[in-house]
Amino acid sequence: MIIVKNLRYKYPKNKDYVIDGVSFEIREGEIFGFLGPSGAGKSTTQKILIKLLTGFEGEITYQGRSLSSYTNEFYQDIGVSFEMPISFSKLTALENLRFFQRLYRKTVDLEPLLRRVGLWEDRNKKAGEYSKGMKIRLNFVRALLNDPKFLFLDEPTNGVDPANARIMKDMILEFKRRGGTVFLTSHIMGDVDELCDRVAFIAGGKLREEGSPRDLKLKYGKRTIRVEYRENDELHTKILPMEEIKNPDFFKLLQEKEIETLHSGETTLAEIFIKVTGVRLRD
Ligand SMILES: Nc1ncnc2c1ncn2[C@@H]1O[C@H](COP(=O)(O)OP(=O)(O)OP(=O)(O)O)[C@@H](O)[C@H]1O
Ligand SMILES: [Mg+2]
Repeated sequence: MIIVKNLRYKYPKNKDYVIDGVSFEIREGEIFGFLGPSGAGKSTTQKILIKLLTGFEGEITYQGRSLSSYTNEFYQDIGVSFEMPISFSKLTALENLRFFQRLYRKTVDLEPLLRRVGLWEDRNKKAGEYSKGMKIRLNFVRALLNDPKFLFLDEPTNGVDPANARIMKDMILEFKRRGGTVFLTSHIMGDVDELCDRVAFIAGGKLREEGSPRDLKLKYGKRTIRVEYRENDELHTKILPMEEIKNPDFFKLLQEKEIETLHSGETTLAEIFIKVTGVRLRD
């Protein structure tokens, strides 16, 4: 769907490249997670992919044609939610959406969408009087109102309560089931793990790792068993590799000690993030 080859970009006033030779592919019908530390260039990349920033080096093709060759026609196909929600604060939510609807040839019925994200009751409230989470949800609805083929979502669930985040994630998965393709950035590794078919990690301007969450966990995985047991009224913890589950000493421990908890563990995307980007998570 989108192929990026050797992408390099620096902001006009800066001398350093934010993106310094990055290649990846977003396949049709997948949710592609673009991950990396704060300031790594995720939002910049999204802005390049939606033709908001020009003057990049390298090659980007969208459905087999150079992205640069597309006119504004491109925007009929895509839905975008930015990391900072934007709306006309003096207009109501519904007026905002109606305004944007006029830019598109094809639009969807707003009522079911607004009901789904819990904004229907507040549709006549001014967007400027919306809470942060409400603005983000409004932004999300705006991304979907032209029934796009491709969604670009920059931290879509950041700042949204867990119940509404659940609804948004379900909507993203339904979008994919209907054949849609998604480019997504997020710092919430649980969401990434749940949503993304493939992820790429970017840090220091370069792509550091790429693959499906499952394959990456197997690659970086150290499966472990963690036992907590009580001895002389003190809590002890023992962590051992999964391969040692049949070790007689481990059986002995299970038989003889007062076991409080027993867990198996696998590497998480958060651990892989830290390993491949060399930076701690922001949140
Ligand atoms: N308009 C701009 N002009 C100059 N530099 C910019 C501009 N926007 C972003 N940058 C710089 O480009 C780099 C990448 O920023 P970007 O917003 O793409 O990061 P990000 O990966 O999305 O981070 P976050 O996770 O915090 O959203 C940062 O060093 C930032 O300071
Ligand atoms: Mg960003």
